[in-house]
Order: sequence, then structure tokens, then C-alpha cells
Amino acid sequence: MAIIRRSFTWFTVVALTGVGLFACTADEATSTAPVITEPTGTPGYNALWLPPVLSGTTFNLTLAKSTKQYRTGAATNTYGYNGSSFWGPTLIMNKGDSVTLNVTNTLTDQTTTHWHGFHIAPEMDGGPHQVVAPGATWSPTFRVRNNAATYWYHPHLHEKTYEQLTMGAGGLIIIRDPAEAALALPRSYGVDDIPLVFSSRRFLSSNQFAKDIKVTTYGDYMLTNGTEKAMVTMPKQVVRLRLLNAEIERGLNIGLSDNRPFSVITNDGGLLDAPVVVTRVVMMPGERVEILVDLSKDAVGASLDLMAYNAGQSFGFPGQEGNPVQPDGTAGRINSSLLNNTDFPMLRMAVGAATASAITSVPSTLVANRYWTTADVTNSRTVTITGGQPGSGFSFDGKSFSHTLINHTIKLNAVEKWTVVNNNVFGHAIHLHDVQFKIISRSNGPVAPYESGWKDTFYLPLGTTAVVLAKFEDFTTTANAYMFHCHFSNHEDEGMMGQFTVVP
Ligand code: C2O
Ligand code: CU
Repeated sequence: MAIIRRSFTWFTVVALTGVGLFACTADEATSTAPVITEPTGTPGYNALWLPPVLSGTTFNLTLAKSTKQYRTGAATNTYGYNGSSFWGPTLIMNKGDSVTLNVTNTLTDQTTTHWHGFHIAPEMDGGPHQVVAPGATWSPTFRVRNNAATYWYHPHLHEKTYEQLTMGAGGLIIIRDPAEAALALPRSYGVDDIPLVFSSRRFLSSNQFAKDIKVTTYGDYMLTNGTEKAMVTMPKQVVRLRLLNAEIERGLNIGLSDNRPFSVITNDGGLLDAPVVVTRVVMMPGERVEILVDLSKDAVGASLDLMAYNAGQSFGFPGQEGNPVQPDGTAGRINSSLLNNTDFPMLRMAVGAATASAITSVPSTLVANRYWTTADVTNSRTVTITGGQPGSGFSFDGKSFSHTLINHTIKLNAVEKWTVVNNNVFGHAIHLHDVQFKIISRSNGPVAPYESGWKDTFYLPLGTTAVVLAKFEDFTTTANAYMFHCHFSNHEDEGMMGQFTVVP
């Protein structure tokens, strides 16, 4: 057990590096120091929790308090949907279906439920405006227009997103469509098609999740589908992993422990034109990729680890912050964690027997996407990241989030070019509601082939600019605007969010 102590020296270091600037407040310096506990459970691994599935066209979700036994002694207080002790069921929807979701909030706090990545009317979006009061049920209904891929739902109440996500509220959504169904891809949920949600937590000595936004942006222990030291057996064939970075702030530089190549087949909003073979994929909070891993040549009983190769990233990569020992010699520190600047396993993958009718090869092509090009652009705008000085949150164009501020007004059917500029103090993950966009350029080099598809969230490293193209179609704004924001939920809650309307 190592007690986190905060010395003035440490605060100075934090302030100088430009990270965790919000920690530099007087009340913070006198608050009770949290304690990091080492895991005391059974040595070895825990079975990966597989979220249950809901399908059809009516989905009932109930958000409730729960508990999960992570440590000996007190259970950890958590939130879950539909009785889960952390996270919630996976919703499986078909493109073209009209669906209704009934979201019941049994918390004593308000919440919202956002359908991340969905192209839907702003009133159905579940952003900060569609508040679900304690005891109330919210019932949005919409047609599923997105391509087959992996999406997710999560709370989005302004200034509560960080806390409610930290407690475990969230869930995956899988959209299926005929183009995806026509491909020879693994799609047996939980067998050769495994959802993997990555989020780390810090445990206080009380066994509770640390959730002081001014202190804890990075967890010390990775929870994969809410499971610490997770292990799953996968069949000896090509398997599909649906990856979601559901961290508060940490980026993940994902690879396999034997460095074998794997194939990225989707981005946030659909299949790529063809699989992209890589040994690493960088994912920021909010981003999803589906990958194919070939286990067909592995021996039954063999194992490998899905890793985050986070050591040695450059400054501005969230989770890079080093300094594993505090100036007073104790481990653990503000805006860093036991996982920061290290390579760490996120899932032990054991190889089991192949299934009947196993997929044994990766398709050479997937779908034919028609992306927007600069020739389609009808309007351009620039968004500049600002703020983040000591005592102030990050912001866009000098403006912190306000419910009554509309930052951008967009004409219906415009194809817009957004140039997002980050000559600021840290990296960010930029997310736009309503649309799936195409990244057409980055100032720091070519757009990686594995992020060349439909995106709703992208990494904007420190000192770089990226240009994305999106078409704003089908929905105009009547009452509530759409959001754009940093998907680090601490940055979002502290004001790094803006609103846009779409008008005829
Ligand atoms: Cu995943 Cu506006 O959020
Ligand atoms: Cu940010």
C-alpha cells in the first residue's frame, strides 16, 4: 500500500508540465489524501465479464446503483444498467429499424443517455439537454441510419459525465447491416466476436473508486469490461475484437504481446474499404475499432496478451505523464497513475479449440465507401483549442461551455471542412455529434490508413492541426443543439464543449 502524499513541490511540477492544471487549487492541497491499494484478490486472472445482449426494436435500460467486489473487504460502489454491477447490456440494432429506448433513471442524481456516434435528431441524441430526472423514464425513438459498426451509450449530463462514467455507467451498441452481413466475418457474440471495453480506475483505501475530478484522471488498474486482470478463451481461428476506449482520459497504444500483425476492419462509423494490417493502433477515449486477430496457427492452450504499449509516448499523449515516484518517494501522484508511461496488459487471451464453421481467413476487401472530398465542401470553419492555463479548463475559441451559447450554426446539407487547431498545452480527443466525418489531413504527417474511414472522434496531438469533412444532413435543430467536445470527460465537464445548430 502506498499513500499518495501531495507536497508543494509536486504541485509545482504539475503546473510546469501543463498537465492537471485544475489540481492547483488551495482546497485541493488540504483535502484528504487518497490511498492506492495493491490488488489483494486471487492471484492470476478473472474471467472476462461479457455484457448480456438486448436486441429487437424496443430496448429498456434502467440505470441503478450497484456494487462490485473488486477487493477484499468492502465492495466497490458502482453504477450499471439493467442490474449489471458495472457497465450495461450490449444493444444489437439493425440499420433501417425504427427503435424505441426507454431509459429509466433510478439514481438520486439526474442523468442523460447519449447514443454515441448515431446520426439522429438532436432531441433524441441524449446530450446534456435531454435530462432524465431521478425516477423518470426518457423514451427517444428514431430510425437507425448508421452503418454496421460498434457504437456506445453513456451519460452526458454537463458536469456529471466524468463522475457517472467513472462509476461504470455505459454500454455498447452493435449495428448490423446487409453489407456487413454479406462478408465472411466472425459474428458470434462472445465466441469469436468479443466486445472489449477498456477503462482503468484508482481505488481508495475504502475500496471505492476515486472520483475527484480535480485529482483523478487516470486509474491505477485496468478494468476490461469492468473485470480486473481479465482473461478469456478464444477459439483457434480468426476472431473479431470490438475495442472501445472508455477511459476518462488515457490514450491506448494497442498491440499484441508477440507483436503479431492484426487487421483493423472498422472505424467509429463503419467498415473500412479493406482491412488495414498493423501491429499498433492508437485509440483515444470514445474511439472504437474492430480488429481481426488470426489465432488459427496457435496451439490450443497457448496464450497471448492484448497490451497497451504506453511507455515512451511523447508529452501530450494522455497517460504519458511519467514520474512514477513522487518527490517524497511514495508511489502514485496527481494526474499520473501506476499505469502511466508503462506497457501494461489489458486482456489475457487463451487459445481454445476451434468452433464449427470457423472463419479462417481475413477478407481482402470489405465495403465501397464514398467519402467526402474537398471538391464537395460548401463551407469551411476553424476551431481552435484554448484554455488549460492554471485554474482554467480547456475550451474552444476562448469560450467555455454554456447551455445558452451556440458556437456554430450550420446549413442543412452543407459539406463542411473543419480545421481543428491544437497549439495548446496537451493532446485531446475531438468528438462531433450528429455526423460521421472523414479525416483528410494532419499537420504532423499522413492520416494513418487505420483511421481513414468514417470517424466521430479523433486524436488531436499537442502542436498539431487536423482537417475533417462532414455532411450535416437529414436533421435540423428545433429546440436543442448538437454538441462537439473533447472526449476526455474531465475536460468536457470543465468546459471543453460547444454547441452547433443545423438550420434550413
Ligand atoms: Cu461519447 Cu458527446 O459523447
Ligand atoms: Cu481534452
